[in-house]
Amino acid sequence: MLELVLNDEGETLALAAALADALAPGDLIGLEGELGAGKTTFARGAIHALGVPADTAITSPTFALVHQYQGRLPIAHADFYRLTKDAELEELGIDELLEEGAVLFVEWGRKFPSVASRASLWVELEIASDQARRVRLDPRGERGDELIAGLSSLV
Ligand SMILES: Nc1ncnc2c1ncn2[C@@H]1O[C@H](COP(=O)(O)OP(=O)(O)O)[C@@H](O)[C@H]1O
Ligand SMILES: [Mg+2]
Repeated sequence: MLELVLNDEGETLALAAALADALAPGDLIGLEGELGAGKTTFARGAIHALGVPADTAITSPTFALVHQYQGRLPIAHADFYRLTKDAELEELGIDELLEEGAVLFVEWGRKFPSVASRASLWVELEIASDQARRVRLDPRGERGDELIAGLSSLV
């Protein structure tokens, strides 16, 4: 477990970029926290750092549920805020995306145990003030520990 304060949006983007450097095919990063906490912002920082051009807008997938990108790896960014049924979840093909070697960023993934169980790392964001966020990086399994170890040496 790694806890940090992110003083402004730039620090959130930088942390996300540092994590992105360590990501490999099949990694699922869970993003949790209230609306406005910075989940989509974190995903944007990581997705751009994975090589998606800076002029590609990374927007909230709240309505589309999943946005896909191609960087140095295939990338999927999902938001399950509006998702209520397991059947809809299956249609999204999360397992297939992971098997195809994608990296996944999932907002509100804890709602679905089948998704939550695939997470290597939980990024839990909390609003501390207008510009500041508290973040807790909670690793799961060996892969999570590896990702955290890589970040600990940087922050
Ligand atoms: N330190 C910070 N980290 C991330 N976002 C921040 C920070 N400070 C302010 N913000 C603002 O908070 C908002 C976060 O929105 P968003 O990333 O869409 O949150 P979520 O996906 O959790 O609902 C953005 O408007 C962003 O500019
Ligand atoms: Mg969001």
